[in-house]
Order: sequence, then C-alpha cells, then structure tokens
Amino acid sequence: MNIVPSKKMSLFAPAIFGDLKNYAKQQQEKGMSMIDLSLGSPDLPPHDKIREHLSHRASLAESYGYTLTGTQRFYEAVSRYYKRRSNVDLEPASEIIQTMGSQEGLVHLPMAFCDPGDIVLSTNPAYVAYDAGIHLAGATPYYMPQTADNNYLPDLDAVPEEIAHKAKLLILNLPGNPVPAMPSLDYFAKVIDFAKKYNVIVLHDAAYSEFYFTGDGPISFLATPGAKEVGMEINSLSKSFSLAGTRIAYIAGNAEMIAILKQLKSNLDFGIFEPIQDAAVMALDNAEEITASLRTTFSERHKTLMSGLSNIGWEVAPSDGGMFVWAKYPYDMDCTDFAFKLIEQVGIVTVPGTAFGTAGQGYLRLALVQPKEALQEAVDRLKNISL
Ligand SMILES: Cc1ncc(COP(=O)(O)O)c(C=O)c1O
Repeated sequence: MNIVPSKKMSLFAPAIFGDLKNYAKQQQEKGMSMIDLSLGSPDLPPHDKIREHLSHRASLAESYGYTLTGTQRFYEAVSRYYKRRSNVDLEPASEIIQTMGSQEGLVHLPMAFCDPGDIVLSTNPAYVAYDAGIHLAGATPYYMPQTADNNYLPDLDAVPEEIAHKAKLLILNLPGNPVPAMPSLDYFAKVIDFAKKYNVIVLHDAAYSEFYFTGDGPISFLATPGAKEVGMEINSLSKSFSLAGTRIAYIAGNAEMIAILKQLKSNLDFGIFEPIQDAAVMALDNAEEITASLRTTFSERHKTLMSGLSNIGWEVAPSDGGMFVWAKYPYDMDCTDFAFKLIEQVGIVTVPGTAFGTAGQGYLRLALVQPKEALQEAVDRLKNISL
C-alpha cells in the first residue's frame, strides 16, 4: 500500500526532544551519568490530599460514566480560585470551559476562531503547541520576536499595520516557555488596546502562573481592565499542582468566545474522568498551601541555576518566575550541536533554543526539574566543558 500523508503533515516536523533523549540514553548506557533538564514535566509528586481524594473517588462505582463537559463543581472551583488569586469574577457556567490539559485547548482553539488565510500573532521563540494549533486551523503565523532587544516582551508596536489588520488571534505566554519573562499590568493594558484597535482575540497562556519567586506573582491577564472584552486565559493543573498526567486544564474569559469553544469541544470528546475533576477541585481549593511549597522548592532551584550560569559567563534572561532558565551560552556554536555536545561531554540534557523558533539560536532552555544539588552539579560540569 502506498501511504501518503496529507500535505498538512509537512507542517508538523518531528520534535527534537526524542532525538536528544535517545542520544542521552545511548551515552548513559556507555556509563555517563545524566542530569536531565530537558522536559518541563514536574518532578514533585502531587500533594497527598489530592492523591487520596483521587483514589477515593476512583474507587466509587458511580464515577465511571461519560462526564461530557466539566462538572459544575469544577467550574465553581476555578471561579473561586480566580477570585482569591486574582480578584477576577468568573461566571462558572458561561465564562469557563474545561480542556484535557492545556495542550488540547491550545491546538484546537485556533480552529474555532480562524479561517485559512487569517493571521495568528505568536512569538519567536514560543511553546510549540501554538504552531500546531495555527497549522491545524490553516491559519498563518506571524512571529513577534521575544528577545533581549525588547526585554523579552513581544513588541506590539512593531507589528506592521497590514499584519495587525489581518490578525484574528494573538497568543501570549508570560511567564513563558521557553522565555520566562513576567507580564505587567501596563504590558497587558497595551495588549488590550491593540486587541480593541485591530479586533484581535487574545489568548494568554498562564501555565506557569504559580511559579514565581518574589512578590505576589504574575498578574492574570483577566485581572487587567477590559481583558474579558477581548480575550481569554488558559491555565492548567499540570504544572502548578504536579498533575500533568491527569490532563486537566481550563480556558476562562469572554463568554461569547467560551460559547464558541464549547460548540467545538462538544464535537471533540466526552469529558474528563470525574475523579480527576474532583481532584482538581481539591487542588484549586487548596491552591495557596500547595503552590507555596512548590515555590519554596523552585525558588531555590531557580537561584542556583540563574546565579550559577551567570557566574560562569552565561547570559541568562532575567526573570523571577517560570519553570525554565533561558540561557545564552558563551560559545559560537549552533545550539543543536551544542546540546548534543553537552550530552556527550558532560551528561547534561537541555533543549536547543531553535526547537522553539529561529530566535532561539545561541540559547538553551534548561528546566528546573532537578533538585538544587543536581543543578549545582550541572553548573560545575558546564564550567569544565571544553570545545
Ligand atoms: C507554555 C505551556 N503551555 C501549555 C503546556 C501544556 O501543558 P498541559 O497540556 O499539560 O496543560 C505546556 C507544557 O509544557 C507549556 O509549557
């Protein structure tokens, strides 16, 4: 049989993550000890309370039917969480939709709002799921640089007028993956002005909203006056509550947009396992306690890696939040070659910056997913690299 993939498939390049992991495995088999800083998968277990609740609910015979959509309990818990965390009022029934992890929401959302030919404003570099969603919708990405030149905040004033007029959707991620820049009220206010001027829907990905190491944490996009008129925020329980494997997330914001997403979603799946939804309620209702201990751990890791890399002459993107360090290494070498070299020579697995876009050349993304002692060890090994 002659199996021919669709033309669209050419837009979905295989991710480099698998190649790096395989290479690391080979080197490990040859005796190299590996420090894996590649995937942003939380290494801390979910809180005991969440696991106990999930297993209790899973033991009940009545927990196994289709749920179709999010339960009212889940939507009310998201609404309470937004009120406590960000002083944002969300109407549970109309301003929130549940998704199977934020990845699912991100790849499907552009389809609900964009037609082929529409432009989606994204960033370079950016989290890879945005491009997947843009391509599935047949839309065209326009990348705003997210680089040191603009303090790692995409410059909306630099978007050409004709692009802004054709744009239908704008996707932002602050603090982000791979760039951990923090948002400010002023920045989001500019985003809202831009969205109103050009009639662009805004989607803010707040996956790392509970990863902050000073102050009260990143402002929610929805806490900015006018945000609900123009957009939505997507957030996930994967990172903040170490529930990545349970696949539960939500999008909140403009009721009309949420209604459109609900229409699409009702054609896609039949809802999330009810015990997971209840575990998420437990997590959201105890968010302050759970995320405080996460921050204590990640803040030490962040300090260790940021200062360690700076001390050995690497340039780290300034940040006091997020789950990653975005670092420019002091060698003139392609970042993919360099990432493979690091695995081979010093046993450190990272992700080359270009995995997230061309502007990532010269950078590596290092995830804070190892104990601080391992991060210190990584810095010591990097100090001794010889090229
Ligand atoms: C910025 C960002 N958004 C969304 C996701 C997807 O997370 P999940 O689908 O587990 O909610 C990730 C995962 O790494 C991410 O980095």
